[in-house]
Amino acid sequence: MILQCRGLVRSYGPTQALRGVAMAVDEGEILAVTGPSGCGKSTLLHCLAGITRPDAGEVIYRDQRVDLLSEAGRARLRRTEFGVLFQFGQLVAELTAAENVALPLLLAGTGRREARTAALSWLDRLGVADLAEKRPGEVSGGQQQRVALGRALVTEPRVLYADEPTGALDTLAGEQVLGHMVRLAREQRTTVVLVTHDARVAAYADRELALRDGVADPTGLGLNASAGRHAGSAR
Ligand SMILES: Nc1ncnc2c1ncn2[C@@H]1O[C@H](COP(=O)(O)OP(=O)(O)OP(=O)(O)O)[C@@H](O)[C@H]1O
Ligand SMILES: [Mg+2]
Repeated sequence: MILQCRGLVRSYGPTQALRGVAMAVDEGEILAVTGPSGCGKSTLLHCLAGITRPDAGEVIYRDQRVDLLSEAGRARLRRTEFGVLFQFGQLVAELTAAENVALPLLLAGTGRREARTAALSWLDRLGVADLAEKRPGEVSGGQQQRVALGRALVTEPRVLYADEPTGALDTLAGEQVLGHMVRLAREQRTTVVLVTHDARVAAYADRELALRDGVADPTGLGLNASAGRHAGSAR
């Protein structure tokens, strides 16, 4: 088990986004977090990734209590152990694809030439090597998400968090991004926490955690009841 949480509670003013969520994911496993809009999926992902802090409960990555880390400690964890992919890739508009992918390495202190070589190699693995010198505004949404996936994976994170990574794409472009994500995650034994409200996307996962109103859905029936070995169970 690489990542788990227990009793996770998080409110925004009067809104209880999470009301006691427990989950666990194994190393190399792809977990889909599903449920209707507003059920707390993004909030859960942000708590697990150390982007936001829960009001109560524990987030444990390996032997580390993520929820107890300082802002700086969580930022370091996000830089070194985690990768994040959002619905809109949030690429830097002024930078080329190669520069966007190289950025996390440069921030971590890798030399320019080495970072660029790594970035080009990731773009190649994602089938967008020919776009290396293009800026985000010059390529399609699906191509942008593949570049964003490269940027999320270039540091070889242990856990990849993806929040509706194909939500803004049409079916074909979305499937290409998911296909690359799953293949690369398997190759590197990267653990993936994949938020989606789309059953077809959830079908790419090994297992599904269904949320409803800030708790694990008591019916245990997610979008994709047939997914993987432990469909619906939160272990
Ligand atoms: N920054 C915020 N300020 C106030 N309320 C928030 C904030 N973020 C989330 N919420 C509320 O918390 C609840 C859970 O939100 P969350 O974004 O986790 O849902 P979600 O399952 O990701 O929804 P969606 O599928 O629409 O992205 C919702 O009621 C939402 O309105
Ligand atoms: Mg969300």
